[in-house]
Amino acid sequence: MNSVVGYSVPCLILLLLFVFSHFTSQLQDFYVVPFIISLYSHSLFVKLLSSWFPLVLYPCKSMNLTNTSWSAPIVWEGTFDEEVLEKYYAKHKITVGLTVFAVGRYIDHYLKKFISSADMFFMAGHKVIIYVLIDDLSRMPWIQLSRLRTIKVFEIKREKRWQDISMMRMKTISEHVVNHIQYEVDFLFCMDVDQIFIGKYGLETLGESVAQLHAYWYKEDPKEVPYERNESSEAYIPIGMGDFYYHAAVFGGTPIQVLDIARECLKGIMNDKKNSIEAVWHDESHLNKYFFLHKPTKLLSPEYCWDYGRMNGLYYPNIKLYWAVKDYKNLRVIT
Ligand SMILES: *[C@@H]1O[C@H](CO)[C@@H](O)[C@H](O)[C@H]1NC(C)=O
Ligand SMILES: *[C@@H]1O[C@H](CO)[C@@H](O)[C@H](O)[C@H]1NC(C)=O
Ligand SMILES: *[C@@H]1O[C@H](CO)[C@@H](O)[C@H](O)[C@H]1NC(C)=O
Repeated sequence: MNSVVGYSVPCLILLLLFVFSHFTSQLQDFYVVPFIISLYSHSLFVKLLSSWFPLVLYPCKSMNLTNTSWSAPIVWEGTFDEEVLEKYYAKHKITVGLTVFAVGRYIDHYLKKFISSADMFFMAGHKVIIYVLIDDLSRMPWIQLSRLRTIKVFEIKREKRWQDISMMRMKTISEHVVNHIQYEVDFLFCMDVDQIFIGKYGLETLGESVAQLHAYWYKEDPKEVPYERNESSEAYIPIGMGDFYYHAAVFGGTPIQVLDIARECLKGIMNDKKNSIEAVWHDESHLNKYFFLHKPTKLLSPEYCWDYGRMNGLYYPNIKLYWAVKDYKNLRVIT
């Protein structure tokens, strides 16, 4: 119990800092807090919180799951051998693509940080092409990139509703894969812009078809997750079915596989539009349906897309990417 008391003071300070930064909009650019938390999390929070809430910390099977029933690996820190991967890819040179969409206010708010953190952490030491899809070329920020990194910027059409922006991504991605991306990269990731890399996001994430476990739902029984439940939608998944709830903020694979994902999702979205129905989580609902029908060959643990806004984030020491503070009320207004 002594050690618990000893941990309480620094924990409390960090907790206050964290809560403070979360609710103070001027501090939303504050990288430092999640960083400190991630450094301290193992030594302090695990011990403290697990002594208080053992069941909150280790509640269920999917928490430590490292493979799926169809034998796809679930990548957590410690489940891969970085040295072996680096050796392999030193002989088999690859280029990895990363698409990111920035429209309206998301440009000024998130784009620069996303790209500069990707420059540092995404596939460090390997060739990367970042494809920026932006609705106003004149607002593309100037960013100095390191060696082996290239940016290609494309202008896209504006959609009026944020739901459409999100759904029409699938159309844009498929067009770009067909036109050029398939000839330029070996693997491709598609990511939301309102995220920040904070740890090495490397070769272990590469696979033919890669899905991201959603940080809010990965511990839940699939009965409880927010799949589309209306039978009239193409994204419908019956209660009791489904494997995991995947996050549309990150998906990837080989370019041809990403093309298939994007095309199938787009088909579902367009059929739903024709039938005047919109799935509960838009493109994410369709992505979940896709991965239900076509199982991903690799899953990324929530370490690869974490949300520090939820308290249960405090005990993860190995976060590689996290959600920037969301400000939907202002940002989703189309200007
Ligand atoms: C998960 O891993 C932790 C830490 O290694 C362990 O203490 C816990 O018992 C495991 N939980 C389950 C359900 O296997
Ligand atoms: C994971 O793989 C092991 C070994 O191949 C297997 O025994 C186990 O059943 C798999 N886990 C799941 C959840 O399928
Ligand atoms: C499913 O969606 C259709 C079309 O929007 C609607 O008419 C119907 O009431 C919905 N069904 C349920 C069970 O919500």
